[in-house]
Order: sequence, then C-alpha cells, then structure tokens
Amino acid sequence: MTGAIFSDPMAGGPKRMFLRATGLSREAVRRRPIIGICSSWSELNPCNIGLRDLAEAVRRGVTAAGGTALVFPTISLHEQFVAPTTMLLRNLMAMDVEEMIRCSPIDGVVLLAGCDKTVPAQLMGAASAGKPAIMLTAGPRSWGRFRGAPVVTDDGWTLASEFLEGRLSAEEADDLEDVFCASMGVCNVMGTATTMAVLAEALGMALPGSALVPAVHAQRSSLAEMTGARAVALARAGTTPEGILTEAAFDNALRVLVAIGGSTNAVIHLEAIAGRLGLRLGLARLERISNETPRVLGVRPSGSFSLEDFDEAGGVPALLRVLAPLLDRDAATGDGQTVGQVAETARGRPHPCLRSLDDPFERDGGLVVLRGSLAPRGSILKRSAAPPELWTHRGPALVFDDYRTALERSFDPNLQATLDTVLVIRNAGPVGAPGMPEIDVIPIPISLRRQGVREMVCVTDGRMSGTEFGAVALHVTPEAAAGGPIGLVRDGDEIVLDARRGVLDLLVDERELARRADEPAPEHSAPTRGYEALHKEHVLQADEGCDLDFLVDQTIRPVVPSLGAGK
Ligand code: FES
Repeated sequence: MTGAIFSDPMAGGPKRMFLRATGLSREAVRRRPIIGICSSWSELNPCNIGLRDLAEAVRRGVTAAGGTALVFPTISLHEQFVAPTTMLLRNLMAMDVEEMIRCSPIDGVVLLAGCDKTVPAQLMGAASAGKPAIMLTAGPRSWGRFRGAPVVTDDGWTLASEFLEGRLSAEEADDLEDVFCASMGVCNVMGTATTMAVLAEALGMALPGSALVPAVHAQRSSLAEMTGARAVALARAGTTPEGILTEAAFDNALRVLVAIGGSTNAVIHLEAIAGRLGLRLGLARLERISNETPRVLGVRPSGSFSLEDFDEAGGVPALLRVLAPLLDRDAATGDGQTVGQVAETARGRPHPCLRSLDDPFERDGGLVVLRGSLAPRGSILKRSAAPPELWTHRGPALVFDDYRTALERSFDPNLQATLDTVLVIRNAGPVGAPGMPEIDVIPIPISLRRQGVREMVCVTDGRMSGTEFGAVALHVTPEAAAGGPIGLVRDGDEIVLDARRGVLDLLVDERELARRADEPAPEHSAPTRGYEALHKEHVLQADEGCDLDFLVDQTIRPVVPSLGAGK
C-alpha cells in the first residue's frame, strides 16, 4: 500500500477507511467533531435497557449539529445482578470508560448511564480522560400498582419483610413480581441512581431538567437529541470536564445532595469524581454544608412525595432556584448557562414536595457526619430517613462479623436483643467485604420484627443507599479490615450515637481496646489474582471515595487524534 494517506499511521485516513465498513458515507467519516456515545446499555442491566434507543436519539442530535456519532459499549453494572457487589467493579468500569474515551479517535463523548454505579463510573472515567463530555441518564422507571396502590422501589423492603413473616402469600409475591419493575429505567425513589442523576445535573455534566423525566417519556428522547447537539458544541469549544467540575461545582453538588436528602452513597462517589481532578472534598466540607443547608425536598425515602412530583415541580432547575442564595451561581451547567441563569428561568408549578429555604422539611441538612472513638475518620448518618427518637441513643452492641451472618442470625428467635440494642455490622468496607457491598436491610432480630419493630440503631463500615429504615451510622472509617476500632467492638459494649451533635463513641477504655488489638486477628483468605486482588491492594477508604489509589489525581491527556478531517 502506498500513498500519503498511509505515510503517517496516526493520521485519520486509515481509520476512516476502516470506519467506512460500517456503511457511513465519505462525508460522514470526514465530518468533525466525532462524538463517541459511551453506552452502558446491556441486557444484563434492565435499568439501562432504554439507553440503546436513547443512543440513536443522541446520534440524531449530533448529526443535526454537524458532527458524526459513534456508539461504543463499556462494562455495565446492575445492582441486583453483579456479585458480590457493583461497588467492587465501579472503579473497573471507570477505567474502561476512561481508556475507551482517551484512546479512541473521538473529539468528545456523550455518557449514557442509569443504574447506581454506572453514573459515577462514567463521570470518574470522563474526568480522567480529559475530553469534552456530557451525560444523559436513563430516567426513573414507571410505578407499578399492587393491592390497589402505587408500588415503588423502597416498598420492596417492607413487602419482603411481610413475605418472610408470612403476611404476603406466595400468590401475592408472584403478582408483585409482575408489577414491581413496571418499565425500563432506574429505581423510582431518591436512591443512588436518581441522586447521582440529579448530581450530574448539579455538577454541570448533564442538561438542566434532564434527571427526573421518566424513562419512558418521549421528552427523554428530545433531551437525548439536545444532549447530542450540546456534545458537538462542547467539542468545538474544547471544554473538558476539568473546566466544569470545579470546586464550586462540587460545593453546589454537595448542597443539592443535602437539600434533597439524597443517597449517602453519593458522598463516596462525589469524593471519587473530585479525586480524579486532584480535588479533595473531605467530610468536614460535607459537615459544614450540611449544617448550612436545609432539606427542602420531601421525596421518598426522605418524605412521602414521588420523583414525578419533583419533576412536576420543575426538577433540578426549580431546586436550584430555591437554593440559589446558597449556591455559587457562576458555576456552569450542562447547557452552557450559569447556575444563576438556570435558576432564574426555572419552570414548574409550585408543589408541596419542594419547599422554600424559610419553610423547609428540616432546618439542618439530611446528612450528618459522625465522629468519635468508634469512627475516628468519620461516619455518615442519613438523619432524614431516621426517626427523631433514635437520633440520640445509647445501648449495648450486638456484633456481626459480616452482613450475611447478620441476616442469618436475625432469624434466630433466641438472639438476644432489645430496642436499646445497637446492631454492629463490620467487615463490610471497601477492603473487608471486599468492595463495600450495599446493605439492603437492617437485620432486625425476628423476635423484635414480630413485635412490629422496624427501626433500630445500626453501626457499620458498609454502605446503604438510604432506601431503608432506622438510624444507621454508615461508612465507619477506618473500617475493621483496615484496623478501625469497629473491629474491636464486643457484644455488650456500650455505644453512644448523637446525630444532633455528630458523635459516635465506643465506651470502652483505651487500655482494654489496646489489649483487644493485640489479640490475634481472625484469618481471612485474600484474593491472589485478577481485579479483586488489585482492588484489595489499592482501594482507598470511604472518606477518600473508595477509588484505587493510582487513579486519583492523575491527569492523563488524550493521545489519539480524531479520525474526522479538519475542524
Ligand atoms: Fe438499577 Fe436501582 S437497581 S437503579
């Protein structure tokens, strides 16, 4: 083969020739910019199953704006399907996303995500890849109806308890299976997926008003077209995530997280995204922002309203309007306007789900940072999901060495527990579990469940998205497997929780703790190969975002030029 087109192996020509195999015209492969559509569509991920159609709508938007769109797949993680936990693989997905963006001949990218970890993984990867990027999320799934009433995701835990206690028949369980996930889209409460979708908007990485539109609405396709066109504009302007994901943007996102009573998992994910750009948020910042920011949204599980109510109230732009006095209004949004401009022009009708700063659901934010002898580097408690009578509590520990054991033992009718008991679930952190799996339900002992108890105090070095009950001190850091004092707790030790003052203490004197620390630790088998071994060796603690240490603060520049010709 001869000719100028082959003289430089890095030139776009050979790439364009291979791309013609897809049926694109000469004009299409020479067009600039080339926009990758990074899709986490997968039949193994029902929450993201609508992304294939949305990718085509994004393509229309890219083409109409003068670019060429190329869809590419990455790993996709579904909360219920991936074992042992999606959190173990979030960083692997982020690496996949980063390398595919960085190493492909594209000028910019549209990120298509939905289910919990797919959103932060894509944002982390895009932040490190350093090419213009914008996200579109999948949108919440529709409600089903069960026993004559709407059923949403967090009803699942109550209904599961009813089934275990014999109050929901096998026939009813079959009927529930028919309607529980009534459409494509993500869990239809303010769990991790929608919290992260809202935060993608608040960070300026998704179009204003895009997070809450239901997955099945035609408006989501329109948003996809608009997102494609916006990606072309970002690529032409050369605006990378580094120019959008500023410290001010993260402060705004943390305020939004607190104001919506969002998922505690988002604290970890925001830290991880920021870490990719060399920013450290820290729990002290969350604490300050939480103390200054009222919770103004009352959407389940932090309230009785629905995501559709929030959408009707105007979604994230209307929330920004409410929060405007507390926000950095010069920060960028996904459509190129400032936060202040989006807030001023926000639409939506007044709705009781969204209140003012003067008349909030809670004066202090929904998230509390706890510290003390049981959590020297901190712990998070979602106060908005906890009954006020448990915000201050002192009681004896009942210790479980892992979540599976906790669940199994909770069915033992002889398990000794009272309403004062503090359930301690350890070895559930990023190193110990490994991967910090989600704790789905608080393992309330069956003897108490039969008395109707649904709320208890629980302390863990693991995660829980917030779609649950009780006062749960999460992300206790350091975790047990990293030498944290939670690993030294014994049954009967007194634990003090004060969610008003931000305290989590273990009332055992230091000499006794030192004695326990000197005892031989139980042997755990460690992974010896593959990604799990890499993760275990390099994963950071929850207060640092649970990223892999070698991925933090690494500025890697794009190395592969566009395959399109000209500008
Ligand atoms: Fe995918 Fe809830 S399982 S968003």
